[in-house]
Amino acid sequence: MKRTLLTSAIALASFASAVSSAQAAQLTISCGAVGAELTLCQEGIRAWEEKTGHSVDVVSTPNSSTERLSLYQQILSANSSDIDVMQIDVVWPGLLANHLLDLREVLGEDAAAGHFDTIVTNNTIDDRLVAMPWFTDAGVLYYREDLLEKYGHEVPTTWQELTETAREIKNAERADGNSRMQGFVFQGRAYEGLTVNALEWVASHGGGSVVDQDGEVTINNEHAAEALDLAASWIGDISPEGVLNYTEEEARGVFQGGNAVFMRNWPYAWSLAQSDDSDVRDKVGVTQLPAGGENGQSAAGLGGWNLAVSRYSEHPELAADLVAFLTGEAEQKRRAIQASYNPTIDALYQDEEVLEAVPFFGTLYDTFTNAVARPSAPTGDAYGRVSNAFFSTAHDVLSGSKDGAQAVSDLEGELLRLKRRNW
Ligand code: GLC
Repeated sequence: MKRTLLTSAIALASFASAVSSAQAAQLTISCGAVGAELTLCQEGIRAWEEKTGHSVDVVSTPNSSTERLSLYQQILSANSSDIDVMQIDVVWPGLLANHLLDLREVLGEDAAAGHFDTIVTNNTIDDRLVAMPWFTDAGVLYYREDLLEKYGHEVPTTWQELTETAREIKNAERADGNSRMQGFVFQGRAYEGLTVNALEWVASHGGGSVVDQDGEVTINNEHAAEALDLAASWIGDISPEGVLNYTEEEARGVFQGGNAVFMRNWPYAWSLAQSDDSDVRDKVGVTQLPAGGENGQSAAGLGGWNLAVSRYSEHPELAADLVAFLTGEAEQKRRAIQASYNPTIDALYQDEEVLEAVPFFGTLYDTFTNAVARPSAPTGDAYGRVSNAFFSTAHDVLSGSKDGAQAVSDLEGELLRLKRRNW
């Protein structure tokens, strides 16, 4: 009896500013679990729970964006109310729009004011804002400052230079007793992450973005073929065979363990590389990805995640309130400082505390705002199949079963067939 009274007293006290326990609702949110993502999400949720008195279950989802998409498609196509709030990839609004709430209807016309226009536009399908921007992403190059200095090398500005430097340092370090040293690690598994890596190689060589803004298939060109052939040459030279099965976290594991000169990854890897238990703390630099040869340009693939409310949610308004809280300025600032997640709110790129925690948010600002988009807008709900075709092709070239020219020619045929039926 005593305990019950005590418990209710505590409950009453903590709900005093919010709702009574009789009205408290239970929501479910799916969050990513790459790096520190899940912990960060749980911390944000706790703050909202304390503020509102409602409670939220957090379910973690597969790390691979490709696997996460099929999970969501299953749940949504069953019209299930199991998940109220979903963390969705920047390439999915067109694929999932029909199952998602228009957040402006609940949060008002200004719901996304202050967020990057390009992301808001990306998330607006048929005039409906189907997701709020949560964090943006762009591919960046991580390098070992200490090793470049030891061997007297500049930070490479072309992929060709990166190849040479990586090879030389890897070989020298191996001769020096570090038999596990690799030159370059990236995301080479056949999944969405390879779509972004390969897009970066191709775009930086002047080979376009697979399908252009107008929906034309552009992949069959010599620059694209050359870019893929160069990447294939890395396997067994500067990159381990195992990279053919790496996602973000496998690459980070090798780099953070001190066993790679260069890594392509997203900004989240920065705060983890700088953490107390990292072998490379204070030895890492971050810069833009290399250009494809002298006439090429640096191309960072655009990534990022958004929060959406399922149309089948039984608590759409509360779920939208949770989304507004998590994507709001205070949360985005906390996530930037604590775990180097890029804000989608422009003003935070001038925030001193943010810039002190993650200096490259300032120096690479242009990289983040000019990143190259995957062709999800022009291909609409066929994007999943387009990406699958592209990453399978890139994987075939990396694993040596096709050369670049043959691969881009075959891929063109496949994409044209898809285009005839779908966009
Ligand atoms: C990152 C990006 C996301 C992309 C994924 C691929 O999570 O933010 O947009 O699809 O990587 O692995």
